Amino acid sequence: MKICITGGAGFIGSSIADKYIELGHEVVVIDNLSLGFKSNIPKEAKFYEMDINDKNIIDVFQEEKFDVVTHFAAQMSVRHSVASPSNDALTNIMGGINIFDSASKSGVKKIIFASSAGTVYGEQNEFPCTETHQNLPVSPYGVSKFAEEKYLQYYHTVFGLNYTIFRYTNVYGPRQNPFGEAGVIAIFALKMLKNEDTYLTGFGKITRDYVFIEDVVAANVLALSPEITGIFNIATAIETDLDYIYDSLAKLTHYNKEKVYIAEKIGEQKRSVCSSAKFQKLTGWQPKTFLPEGLPKTVEFYKSLVQK
Ligand SMILES: NC(=O)c1ccc[n+]([C@@H]2O[C@H](COP(=O)([O-])OP(=O)(O)OC[C@H]3O[C@@H](n4cnc5c(N)ncnc54)[C@H](O)[C@@H]3O)[C@@H](O)[C@H]2O)c1
Repeated sequence: MKICITGGAGFIGSSIADKYIELGHEVVVIDNLSLGFKSNIPKEAKFYEMDINDKNIIDVFQEEKFDVVTHFAAQMSVRHSVASPSNDALTNIMGGINIFDSASKSGVKKIIFASSAGTVYGEQNEFPCTETHQNLPVSPYGVSKFAEEKYLQYYHTVFGLNYTIFRYTNVYGPRQNPFGEAGVIAIFALKMLKNEDTYLTGFGKITRDYVFIEDVVAANVLALSPEITGIFNIATAIETDLDYIYDSLAKLTHYNKEKVYIAEKIGEQKRSVCSSAKFQKLTGWQPKTFLPEGLPKTVEFYKSLVQK
């Protein structure tokens, strides 16, 4: 298959690009390198350095004739979205529309879209929550991801564009950008290895559901099948607080600084844990790597960065 990966220079997109190439697919990456790195893009992939809002994207789509588009390019900081809801909407909503519209007009058969289980539901009243939970996001980022889902469903309903929407909980693992504001495991791991100050928002009690990158890659391989259509949480259904993440990483990195607690920021959800029973029932997918195994693998990656 010929697959376009937007955001393919980033953490998740490039990990999936590697796997798709290993499986024999032809991969084309579109990324503006605002957060991703050229070195992440597999050398076998063709690369367009472009913004997803570029009006010439349609020309690329018409020339390349992709079978599938996996859409990862996004503004993904909750805090930035609170500071500038319009900038968040410009990338996530307007950029998403540009990608879906170009796909629909150029004969793309399927879109696989990266949505966010940690934000599209808002504060949960069901633990773990399923895909039918109400959607009351507490951040502009959650709103923009949910809006993007709705635009994609419009292109499906009216123009027949097939789709899989994956609502990921917190994805972590080697290659996650530790310099951004999202990805607490990457941020803590690098800061602890460099013996820098860290702080725990929500007084350490904020909870998340952490899913390992290899399990996310496996889900994206299954999603290439045209029968896998709909909205699916990709999650572990295990709720973990920030204190546990901090303590585990401090142990792995021999970090001894005193814990500093602060209140949660606006837009930060207090609890998040989701069920992926729907996807598991349809495909047999199961999360295979849990924090006790995934955290050491992740720390090893950042150790190699620090040593460079
Ligand atoms: N990491 C998580 O925990 C998580 C959870 C849920 C959903 N997601 C979603 O998965 C996707 C990928 O996340 P990630 O962790 O790999 O992030 P990332 O920052 O590593 O990757 C995002 C990539 O998109 C590119 N990009 C950003 N804006 C762009 C634009 N306007 N035009 C072209 N390229 C642009 C960046 O340069 C980067 O390479 C995002 O859509 C994110 O919202 C991530």
